[in-house]
Amino acid sequence: MSKEIKKPGNFTVHATDGNARRGTLVTAHGDIQTPVYMPVGTQGAVKAVSPRDLREIGSQIILGNTYHLYLRPGDELIARRGGLHKFANWDRPILTDSGGFQVFSLESIRKITEQGVEFRSYIDGSKHFFSPEKVISIQNNIGSDIMMVLDECVGYGNDRDYTAKSLELTTRWARRCREAYPAGSGDQLMFGIIQGGFHKDLREVSLEQLSEIPFEGYAIGGLSVGEPIPDMYDILQHIGPKLPFEKPRYLMGVGTPLDILEGIANGVDMFDCVLPTRNARNGTLYTSLGKVNIKRAQYREDDSPLDPNCDCYTCRNFSKSYLRHLYTAKELLSSQLNSIHNLRFFLKLTEQAREAIENGTFADLRKKYEAVYEAVTR
Ligand code: GUN
Ligand code: ZN
Repeated sequence: MSKEIKKPGNFTVHATDGNARRGTLVTAHGDIQTPVYMPVGTQGAVKAVSPRDLREIGSQIILGNTYHLYLRPGDELIARRGGLHKFANWDRPILTDSGGFQVFSLESIRKITEQGVEFRSYIDGSKHFFSPEKVISIQNNIGSDIMMVLDECVGYGNDRDYTAKSLELTTRWARRCREAYPAGSGDQLMFGIIQGGFHKDLREVSLEQLSEIPFEGYAIGGLSVGEPIPDMYDILQHIGPKLPFEKPRYLMGVGTPLDILEGIANGVDMFDCVLPTRNARNGTLYTSLGKVNIKRAQYREDDSPLDPNCDCYTCRNFSKSYLRHLYTAKELLSSQLNSIHNLRFFLKLTEQAREAIENGTFADLRKKYEAVYEAVTR
């Protein structure tokens, strides 16, 4: 392999199957094989799962969040510890969301201006201000491999006028983010975020404007914000295949196993979602035979593994009967074992997708998952 290929930000598409792609993204902390699912570690930790376990189940990259880490313990404190990789003892890639989405979704009292967004801390109510330059400086202190631009995520049900104005602001903020950290000025990558709500033409406007800014990747934001699933798929099908072919594509905050397969089918390479970890803590488990609600009485004396087709630590060592007991007794081990399993399920889904795309059998893989998960709600 030439030196050029190993440069952070370099992205290679090795194979395609329809619009689905099998690729490799180079980062300063190693290569990421795509399509990839990225476990969410908002506060610098994936809830209930150690970095050792994350490695064992095949996590290539984890997420952190600018908003949370800025408020606590503070990005400057993290920088003094040598960055988040060292602080959290995770030496594989890290992606940080910009904090824009959290400011908007956590209903912190907020004020949006051209300069940025003013908000109150969810911890102590104190006032703070995020500008595009500020969120890049924070992500620089955190030392993430992939930084996200500051954007405004317009929720479901906003009118066309508001959405159109908002996406223009998101573009101006994106430009300022790039100017604060020009392409190639360091080892960190920066992704732009396409908005435009549920208007296809506005999505195209957003894409056109952002693709003129030299980002190392492009994300689709503003989906899975309370809309009906067909509306989300409609936008995904329209805009996914139109994103720059030679750059990685990231669908933010989505979704269920079938949502991820729909994303891959429409050319998306990267996914993150709290569903596997959140559901694990609620006792909802994803298996190759469908969803399992581990609290149900039917598992009281069920000595079989959670998923006979899973290779995770949980499935190799414990019965459904024991997992039900841990959940019922509110033992902390319940969250840990359930999270390890659910994450492994999502990671295996993308592993299988990578293999299927290479073999030209992605449609078959999708049918297999649809047969099990079609009738299941999120
Ligand atoms: N996470 C899920 N959706 C979004 C979005 O639209 N913007 C950002 N920054 N993060 C997200
Ligand atoms: Zn398992």
